[in-house]
Amino acid sequence: MGGINPYIEQAPYTPATRKYKVSFTKCGKTVEVDPEKIPYGHDGLPGSILDIALGAHIPMDHACGGVNACSTCHVIVHEGSESCNEATDAELDQLDEAAGVTAKSRLGCQCVPDGTKDVVIEIPDWNRNYAKEAEH
Ligand code: FES
Repeated sequence: MGGINPYIEQAPYTPATRKYKVSFTKCGKTVEVDPEKIPYGHDGLPGSILDIALGAHIPMDHACGGVNACSTCHVIVHEGSESCNEATDAELDQLDEAAGVTAKSRLGCQCVPDGTKDVVIEIPDWNRNYAKEAEH
C-alpha cells in the first residue's frame, strides 16, 4: 500500500542531511542511513524508521502501508529520540491502540530522525496484526 492518509494532519519532519546509524536491538542489526538513498521504499514517511527497516530487509509490520492508520508499526525509541520529529496528535491517537505502549513509543512509519544522533530502536515482539501476510 503506502501513500498519504488524507484524513489526518501530515507529520512535519526535518529530513536527515548526513549519514547516521539506526540500531535495531532485537535482531542485532545496525543500519547506516544515507540521506542520498532516502526513501528506501514507499511505505511510511520518507526516512522514517519503517522506511529504514524495510530498506534493510528488517521485518516490521505495517498493516496500513505506513499511513498512520493502524498501530502495527509500534516501536520503542531507546536512544536518539531527541533527533526525531515530534509525534502529532494523530500519531498519539493511533498509538493508543498499540499494546504495551511506553513513554518512548512511536509509530515507526511516522517517526523520522533528522540524522543528528544515532538511534536505537526496539521492535516489540508482539503487535495486534494477528493476520500477517506472507512474504512476497
Ligand atoms: S504502518 Fe500503520 S500506522 Fe504505521
